Amino acid sequence: MTENSTPANSPREAVIAHYTARHTARGDLYGEQPFANYGYWVEPDQSIEGAAEALTRLVATTAKMGPASRVLDVGCGYGAGPVVFARSHKPRTVVGIDVTDVRITSGQDYVAQCGFGDTITLQLGDATAMDFPDASFDTVVSVECAFHFDTRATFLAEAFRVMTPGGRLALTDLIPKRGVDPKRYMQGNRAFLSGQCLDMPVNAYDADEYSRILREIGFEDVQVESILEQTRIPFIAALRQYAQRSEGERRAAFERMCDRLQSYVDAGEDYVLVSARKPEAA
Ligand SMILES: C[S@@+](CC[C@H](N)C(=O)[O-])C[C@H]1O[C@@H](n2cnc3c(N)ncnc32)[C@H](O)[C@@H]1O
Repeated sequence: MTENSTPANSPREAVIAHYTARHTARGDLYGEQPFANYGYWVEPDQSIEGAAEALTRLVATTAKMGPASRVLDVGCGYGAGPVVFARSHKPRTVVGIDVTDVRITSGQDYVAQCGFGDTITLQLGDATAMDFPDASFDTVVSVECAFHFDTRATFLAEAFRVMTPGGRLALTDLIPKRGVDPKRYMQGNRAFLSGQCLDMPVNAYDADEYSRILREIGFEDVQVESILEQTRIPFIAALRQYAQRSEGERRAAFERMCDRLQSYVDAGEDYVLVSARKPEAA
């Protein structure tokens, strides 16, 4: 989630300030549950938490995660993804990294409470300079984070480096739609005061450029597919219903959030599922 961020000196500091501030504010919408994504809304009567879990499972399935997998979850937040993976796909190990300290410390408690202390390790780490040897993981995933990274392309190259040959990458991400002028798209976000951490012009390119970057790094079997209609759009609809059940300033705040999210979509924002494979011979 990307609202209410605090200005800071660098994109990385802005992201950390934003997600640290969100830590105390998030209970309003998310309560105590550990997800922080827009969800995948394909079932009737889904809750925000149920949809967030469905999105996480989609990423795991896309990465073909299985019992032999050694998984890296980049931008693991509160550890929700690693716990879903451990429960549903039972990988050998999961390492989660995140730049926001409070998310890692809370996530470590959550992982221990869920009984996965032996399988899951959460640690501070930056997507663009990972502290792992080459070929450490066969599966790299990232749910709704890469638009923040400084830069996304640096992260994708790092992911390639830490993956074993034949390994798989799967992530969800926010990008401008094809044909949308990236400058206008970013100006739109600034005008809507979405927060400095989304203002990464260097990451504002469409699915074709995204695919080109992945191939240039060396990935094969590259796919960048829009899932906007199953993610951002139904999330806004669910939030509008949530607003209608609230009152006073709380209701007004949720309605403002809906309007802001809709304005990003109107400005040309897409929500994509990205997958790729590192060649066996790499
Ligand atoms: C929208 S949240 C998603 C969290 C989690 N994947 C989920 O689905 O609940 C984005 C996360 O990316 C993390 N993040 C942003 N920039 C990062 C970076 N350079 N390296 C690692 N994590 C980063 C943030 O701290 C935040 O926890």
